Amino acid sequence: MQFIDLKAQYRALKTEINANIQQVLDSAQFIGGPQVKELEKQLAEFVGRKHCITCANGTDALQIAYMIAGVGEGDAVFCPDMTFISSTEPAKMFGATSVFCDITRDTYTLCPESLEKQIQAVLADGTLKPKAVVAVDILGNPCDFDAIVPICEKYGLTLIEDAAQSFGGSYKGRKCCAFGDIATTSFFPAKPLGCYGDGGAVFTDDDTIADLCRSICVHGKGPGGKYDNIRVGMNSRLDTIQAAVLLPKLKALGDYEMDERQVVAGRYNEAFKGHFVTPFVAEGSVSAWAQYAILAKDTATRDKVIAHLKEKGIPNMVYYPTPQHALPVFRCEPHFAESFENANDYCARTLSLPMHPYLEAEEQQIIIDAVLEAL
Ligand SMILES: Cc1ncc(COP(=O)(O)O)c(C=O)c1O
Repeated sequence: MQFIDLKAQYRALKTEINANIQQVLDSAQFIGGPQVKELEKQLAEFVGRKHCITCANGTDALQIAYMIAGVGEGDAVFCPDMTFISSTEPAKMFGATSVFCDITRDTYTLCPESLEKQIQAVLADGTLKPKAVVAVDILGNPCDFDAIVPICEKYGLTLIEDAAQSFGGSYKGRKCCAFGDIATTSFFPAKPLGCYGDGGAVFTDDDTIADLCRSICVHGKGPGGKYDNIRVGMNSRLDTIQAAVLLPKLKALGDYEMDERQVVAGRYNEAFKGHFVTPFVAEGSVSAWAQYAILAKDTATRDKVIAHLKEKGIPNMVYYPTPQHALPVFRCEPHFAESFENANDYCARTLSLPMHPYLEAEEQQIIIDAVLEAL
C-alpha cells in the first residue's frame, strides 16, 4: 500500500506523460522549452491569476516572494506555527525574524486573532518592523482570507499565500494561489499537483512583481537579457521535462482528481466520526487534501494507532511532529504574546493517513478498519 500512490496515477496518465516526455527528448529543449510557457499560461488560467512564473521548487518560490516583499534585517515576518520550515526559512536567511502565530482550533490554518495579537505585540515591543505575512493553506485547507487580508491592509503588510499543499483547493469560489500580493506553490511529487522531481511556481496579478520575479529567477537579469544582471537573483527554473509531465497532470486534477480527493476524504470523515477529531473545512472552502489528518484524543492514543498501522504495514505520517517555535533552529526566537496552545495540541495528537485520488474504497476500508481496531 502506498501513502500517495504515484504509480497508480502514472498508470492512468502514462500515454500522455510518456508522449510529452518523448517530445522534449526529441526537441532537446531541456531548459525553457515551449512546454514551460504553455504550463505557465494554463496554471495562471486555472487559478485565475494574471501571471504565473515557474521556478525550481516551492522553497525557492517562497524565497523569491520574501525577496520581492523586501524582507531584510530587522523585519518581522508573521507565519503560522504549524507548517513546513520552507514557509518560514527565508526570514532568517535575510536577517529578519519569523514571528510565529497560533493556528485555529478547527482549520489548523493561520489564526487571524493570533496574527493581529502578534503584530500588536511586535509594534509594542518596537524592536522589529512588521513586514509580511505568510498564510499557509496547510494540509490543503485554505486560510481564512476574508479575515487575514484586512489585517494585512490595516498594518501595510505584504501577504504571501503559501499554497504548496493546496493547489486545486479553493476559498469562496477563488482557487488557492489566487490570494495575497504573491502566492507560491510546490510541484514536489507528493503534492496535489506534483511533477517527477522538483518544481514550483509564483503567482501574482501585479505586472511589476511578475517582472521582478522573472528577473530574480534568472540571476537578476535586466532588460538586456541574462548577461545584463541588474540585481542579485537566483538560478531557479522549472525543467522542460517537468512542465511536460505537469501538463496532463493539471488536466487530470481539474477533470477528476480533485473530485476523487473529496470522495476519499468523505469516506474517512464518515468512518472516523465520533472516534477522532476529523478535519474541518469551512463553509465555502474546498480542501485539496494534500493530507488527511485526524486528531486522536491524546498522544498515547495517536502513538498506539501508529504502532498498530506499522504492524499491519499501513503507511502513515505525522505532519508535523514539532511546531515551528519548538524546532531547534527557532528555539531562541521571541514568542511575543503567543503560547501556541492550538499548534502544540495539534502536533501532539495528529496523524495523517494514506490520501490520494486513486485510493479505492476496498483498500481504504482496510486502513479504516486498522485504525479503528487500534482503539
Ligand atoms: C507548506 C509548504 N511550503 C513550502 C514547501 C516547499 O516546497 P518544495 O519541497 O517544493 O521546496 C512545502 C513542501 O513540503 C510545504 O509543505
